[in-house]
Amino acid sequence: MDGKCCIILIFFVSILGSNVNCINKAEIVFQMDKVDYDWNNDSHKQMAIDSNEYIVENNLITGIKVYGSNVYVTVPRWRRGVPATLNVLVPGNTGTPLLKPFPSWDMNKIGNCNAFQYVQSMEIDPNTGYMWIIDLGRINIRDPVSKPLNLCPPKLIILDLRTNQIVRHYDFPDEVVSHSSNFMNDIVLDYVNGHARYAYISDTSDAKLYVYDFDNNNSYHFQHETMKAQPLLLGQEDLIAAPIDGIAMSADFKFLFYSTLTDLRLFAVCTSILRNKHSIFSNNVTMLGRKMGGSDGMVCSQNSLFYAAFEQHAVAKVTIPKNGMVDFSTENTVVSNATSVIWVDTFGFNGTDLWFVANKLNYFFQSRMNFSSGEPNMFIWKVNVNEAGYLNRAMERTYYPSHPGILG
Ligand SMILES: *[C@@H]1O[C@H](CO)[C@@H](O)[C@H](O)[C@H]1NC(C)=O
Ligand SMILES: *[C@@H]1O[C@H](CO)[C@@H](O)[C@H](O)[C@H]1NC(C)=O
Ligand SMILES: *[C@@H]1O[C@H](CO)[C@@H](O)[C@H](O)[C@H]1NC(C)=O
Ligand SMILES: *[C@@H]1O[C@H](CO)[C@@H](O)[C@H](O)[C@H]1NC(C)=O
Ligand SMILES: *[C@@H]1O[C@H](CO)[C@@H](O)[C@H](O)[C@H]1NC(C)=O
Ligand SMILES: *[C@@H]1O[C@H](CO)[C@@H](O)[C@H](O)[C@H]1NC(C)=O
Repeated sequence: MDGKCCIILIFFVSILGSNVNCINKAEIVFQMDKVDYDWNNDSHKQMAIDSNEYIVENNLITGIKVYGSNVYVTVPRWRRGVPATLNVLVPGNTGTPLLKPFPSWDMNKIGNCNAFQYVQSMEIDPNTGYMWIIDLGRINIRDPVSKPLNLCPPKLIILDLRTNQIVRHYDFPDEVVSHSSNFMNDIVLDYVNGHARYAYISDTSDAKLYVYDFDNNNSYHFQHETMKAQPLLLGQEDLIAAPIDGIAMSADFKFLFYSTLTDLRLFAVCTSILRNKHSIFSNNVTMLGRKMGGSDGMVCSQNSLFYAAFEQHAVAKVTIPKNGMVDFSTENTVVSNATSVIWVDTFGFNGTDLWFVANKLNYFFQSRMNFSSGEPNMFIWKVNVNEAGYLNRAMERTYYPSHPGILG
């Protein structure tokens, strides 16, 4: 063997070595066959079952975010019988965690427009402890029996997790977010001059991207062909098509990445476009390349983008160079497993730990989910990826004293 080949080989082995380390650290933190709640007492639970306020097979965990020692999860009100849509995990008697309505049962009450009606996603800013929560204001939007109920205006609530006080309640006007057809799905934050100024929100029904401006307390939207649902590709017969879903913000706050549910194409748009409601969106979108599979949620760490690869039952990763032009030759698989990584839904960071939910959502909507087999249907994973999330130290990283913004 000549010297050159040897060097290449060592290089190769060290790459493999680092991947193996990464995969070895992946662990299932929780697994559940069904969702159960932290009821006040047994009769509370029995009454909820008798009145159809709790229909176990209509409850599926989708959203996840971690803050301190708490794991927050959402249960979409797609169908009837979801007693609480925003929850925090607490230990249960059987070793399976229970969902404790967050911040309370009252704040999850159907029909109370100050309370949460249907939360698919939230974001937690680790710098401030603020949880940014999007609420459709609508329930039963995919129920086989009931029509959708448009109970309240769609809203954004910002809750300070350190005090449990609401610091902002914003109702979206109907012209921006339809009160009768929206499906606000995912949310990311954009930092400007040391504070989270903009929230970007995907709509997986109306195929729109919303912008909420914290400083001006107003909102607007963008629409584009690339946000519309794409027909299923060969090999995707097992999946469900839908419009723009997963979105991710780059750690330098220059790019928003997005994709529709089964489209392999990954798109990017500059935040300089999104921050101005008068921008022309259409000519300022870039197609970066094709992912290995369809994907739901996405998230950026300091230098990488993580997303599902449905067809591979995997989480995939690509490196993001400074110019945002994702190089798909760097794409690789972080975790994969044909039984416990089916439909990776949402991601969250805690330090350098990447947390995610795999929930077999396609089985749920194809009525193939078995809630009585005892087999786990929802998995909560954690993997150390050696990089912190996009919001880590965002205050210091975006604050320039010569352009003080609101901090000045
Ligand atoms: C059980 O919980 C329900 C709902 O909170 C409450 O109304 C009821 O008084 C409780 N019953 C007992 C026996 O504590
Ligand atoms: C998040 O990370 C912190 C610091 O390492 C740790 O104390 C905390 O328990 C973690 N949260 C969870 C839910 O594991
Ligand atoms: C923001 O706008 C909402 C409209 O939904 C209004 O109710 C609220 O008072 C405003 N908040 C601030 C801080 O201006
Ligand atoms: C977006 O694209 C259009 C057309 O190419 C261009 O004129 C415009 O300056 C770009 N930027 C913004 C902010 O609209
Ligand atoms: C896949 O996950 C299942 C369930 O956690 C586990 O039993 C199995 O060993 C895993 N398979 C591989 C190849 O890691
Ligand atoms: C669910 O699993 C149980 C136990 O394995 C089995 O008896 C039942 O037939 C299954 N139900 C469906 C709808 O597949």
